[in-house]
Amino acid sequence: MSKKRNILVTHALPYANGSLHFGHLIESIQTDIWIRFLKMMGHQAIFICGSDSHGTPIMIQAEKFGIAPEKMIADMQVEHQKDFADFGIAFDNYYTTHSEENRELVETIYDRHYKAGNIVKRTIKQLFDPVKNLFLPDRFIKGECPRCGAKDQYGDSCEVCGATYVPTDLKNPYSALSGAKPIEKESEHYFFKLENFEKFLRDWTQGGHLQEQVTNKLNEWFEAGLRDWDISRDAPYFGFLIPGEKEKYFYVWLDAPVGYIASFKNLCDKRKDINFDDYWSTISQAELYHFIGKDITYFHALFWPALLHGAKFRTPTSIFVHGFLTVDGQKMSKSRGTFIKARTYLNHLDPEYLRYYFAAKLSNRSEDIDFSFDDFVQRINADLVGKFINIASRCASFITKNFAGQLAKECKDIPLFYSFSEAGDEIAEKWEKLEYGQAVRHIMALADRANQYIDEKKPWSLIKDPANTAEVQDVCTMGINLFRVLMIYLKPVLPMTAERVEKFLQIKPLNWGDKDNLLLDHRITEYQPLINRIDPKQIEAMKMDAQQDIKNSQTPPAVTANTEAATVKKTETISIDDFAKVDLRIAKILSAEAVEGADKLLRLKVDIGNEERQIFAGIKSSFQPEQLIGKHIVVVANLAPRKMRFGMSEGMMIVASDGDGQLFLVEPQAGAKPGMKVK
Ligand code: MSP
Ligand code: ZN
Repeated sequence: MSKKRNILVTHALPYANGSLHFGHLIESIQTDIWIRFLKMMGHQAIFICGSDSHGTPIMIQAEKFGIAPEKMIADMQVEHQKDFADFGIAFDNYYTTHSEENRELVETIYDRHYKAGNIVKRTIKQLFDPVKNLFLPDRFIKGECPRCGAKDQYGDSCEVCGATYVPTDLKNPYSALSGAKPIEKESEHYFFKLENFEKFLRDWTQGGHLQEQVTNKLNEWFEAGLRDWDISRDAPYFGFLIPGEKEKYFYVWLDAPVGYIASFKNLCDKRKDINFDDYWSTISQAELYHFIGKDITYFHALFWPALLHGAKFRTPTSIFVHGFLTVDGQKMSKSRGTFIKARTYLNHLDPEYLRYYFAAKLSNRSEDIDFSFDDFVQRINADLVGKFINIASRCASFITKNFAGQLAKECKDIPLFYSFSEAGDEIAEKWEKLEYGQAVRHIMALADRANQYIDEKKPWSLIKDPANTAEVQDVCTMGINLFRVLMIYLKPVLPMTAERVEKFLQIKPLNWGDKDNLLLDHRITEYQPLINRIDPKQIEAMKMDAQQDIKNSQTPPAVTANTEAATVKKTETISIDDFAKVDLRIAKILSAEAVEGADKLLRLKVDIGNEERQIFAGIKSSFQPEQLIGKHIVVVANLAPRKMRFGMSEGMMIVASDGDGQLFLVEPQAGAKPGMKVK
């Protein structure tokens, strides 16, 4: 085997203002498979990540929730770490960019560039919100598209016609925060002179550190010319102050990638066996890899190597860029229920299905990747369970029942076994080169061979004649051994299944090298189902929940730790006119029933005076349908109707909630009649 390598791997630091979704997961799963593979090969591989905690969107989001940004990012980090852990993403360290380590490193890097003359100051004009008193990032300016005239488009691009432009091109611009018309205002900003690094960057980007498609993209950027990069933002901002300034902060994208180094530094302080300089000095022999999505290539392939190089840190060995995830062929969409959060998925389905599915779809190119629900069910049920798991379930029962769990002392078909173990070198190369789809196809072709072998030998008919007993043990022992080798190849993808298999076979944690040994004359335990098939109902239920999520998307992170000190509660007020817009009415529940395929929903028919309405309410966990019939309740009668999979929901029922999921009816005093207005 090749010599032991020291490898540091990162994936992009998720923003701490929103929950993780499928788009994040494809990146995490891609990276985690790689790390697990490298570790199985015996290398020292370290997986670093953390929350990207600074910037205007984070500040604004925290303000909306009425909590301090420090509290929001801390809670969100807890939520993210829980989601990642449940998907088996095994970070060696998960930290945050809002840390002292990061502040120090950012200052060091800035200082070195400042002294080298790579930072300049210049006055620029920018759009400013006169009500909120802040400079507006592009995404916070809306208006009419300069090309097609579509209303309510963002400051950088039109979602209707696809035009891209600068915010000042918008017609009738307004601030997405306050609705006010933005004004142009001057301010002095700090700039990083990227062009000082043109020669270095041209060499670096041609130096085999990038995928070919990415290099081509960079060449376009070189042609367009390297422009100075604006690295400062004016107060109010949530981030690190620039040394010597009181009102100017480092732009979040300056301190975010430095967060990779900071997270590693934090790990070094906890683990004595790794040394910071071994990984980050200019003479480092270690390898450094970043996994990212294509939208953040500019930051990673241009700014980042320049920042590192100019500040006397080592530069990345490679940057791996993956494409964007679409769901059923389209951009993830909240209204179609295809914007799926990590937690929504976990509430219904096994995380390893998704790990396997993404592995089967990934390659080392940066093309977009589609998640198709039908294809997903098909690949899990037919391939993962139907082919791979099937090998074990077919052989194990014979071993248990007829041989007290004992595998044979020897097997006849040794060449078959060696053809499986020899395939390991090619499969290893595919994992290493990020050709995951190819690796999975190769493994599934071997699974076909194993099944074919069992089909040919027919242990179920051999066992009928006592003269064949030894042969049954031999065949099933071979089957179990072929399965074990395939489990080794799939272990980077299916770590939880691998653990169950290790228990089932009563063996030590499998490493790559174990592929060459046969497991003979050894006792295994009774077979328990290792992975179940997907029931299409689970998919429907998850889609329903994803649709429900739209409603809940504007709530703070689920964690509510006891950190009252950090919490600043603000009560947002509304005007009497705002309130008057809500048509609250007394309604009588005529019928209530569970909705098949939906965990949380009840279908209600209610009388609101002059008409009957159908309402889907997510209240099943707290009420029996029968107990609701005949009750008087309060409903929002003028809520826009919502099309759900089971029909239209034409209103909303008001309930009281204790915040932990227990709901209580809100009933009017006796005598109130359906249709009465609630004021
Ligand atoms: N915070 C920055 C990264 C800073 S790294 C120093 C950021 N965060 S993000 O939460 O928006 O995205 C994190 C990663 O998820 C990025 O690599 C991004 O490309 C990836 N994805 C987010 N949505 C995605 C899809 N729909 N599909 C695939 N990956 C996508 O960017
Ligand atoms: Zn347009």
